[in-house]
Amino acid sequence: MRMRRKAWTEPKLDACPYFIEAPSAHRGQWQALFERQQPVMLEIGCGKGVSTAQMARANPDVNYIAIDEVRHVLAVSVRNADAAYAPETPKNLVFSAVDALRIHDTFSAVDGIRRIYISFPNPWDERAKHHKRRLTHPRQLEQYRNFLAPGGEIWFKTDNDALFTASKRYFRECGFEIAFLTDDLHASGFSPNYISEHEALYSGQGKAIHFLIARMLPRETPPKQRENEAPCPESTGDSAPIGPPDLS
Ligand SMILES: C[S@@+](CC[C@H](N)C(=O)[O-])C[C@H]1O[C@@H](n2cnc3c(N)ncnc32)[C@H](O)[C@@H]1O
Repeated sequence: MRMRRKAWTEPKLDACPYFIEAPSAHRGQWQALFERQQPVMLEIGCGKGVSTAQMARANPDVNYIAIDEVRHVLAVSVRNADAAYAPETPKNLVFSAVDALRIHDTFSAVDGIRRIYISFPNPWDERAKHHKRRLTHPRQLEQYRNFLAPGGEIWFKTDNDALFTASKRYFRECGFEIAFLTDDLHASGFSPNYISEHEALYSGQGKAIHFLIARMLPRETPPKQRENEAPCPESTGDSAPIGPPDLS
């Protein structure tokens, strides 16, 4: 079974005009891969790309880059995008295999990424000391800061309480303000929301989905001033969303 999956992966990726090999060769030049010059958004850990394909298809005026570290998962993403765009070929979406822990090799400030999506990343238990691998860990947020456009946003979804609580702290520590937050995305009325594979799985099990939008504040903001800002409302089981989000 495993061999068959591997055998299918590489031919699928080789034949795909919107799968990008050697991603670091495009550092600072991602916009050139697209037919139209328009805002660029990045999904990290896209998995099978279920929501990626829907979102990109619905927003032709945005260019999307979706990355994951696992190639056979990306081959499934490509298959899902083929189906979502058929009979056309995606012109505003590319996939690439990138380990987000080394994402600084792949993107630079010149790429002008306006928004990052992180949906249902591996929670990495804090007690097991693997938490530095979290895609929202400060070590990661500092890397994202280096290529996110001024005022850029991170849209983060998870079902995991501990990861969400820690991530709110990480975002504040790294100079992001929480622009929108809900502990029950599907009851919040937030729209549009493109439901990912894991989101469908967990909400199908009756779990509420945490969601926040973190907006990057300028580096120049002195730490003292940030400390004096109104504290971010803490997430509680029945908290109302804060917002409204700037969806432009
Ligand atoms: C639980 S899945 C979520 C997939 C999808 N976002 C969803 O919501 O259905 C987590 C995904 O993150 C990817 N991932 C984990 N660590 C990563 C890293 N360091 N760099 C890139 N992708 C990573 C995994 O390969 C996996 O596909």
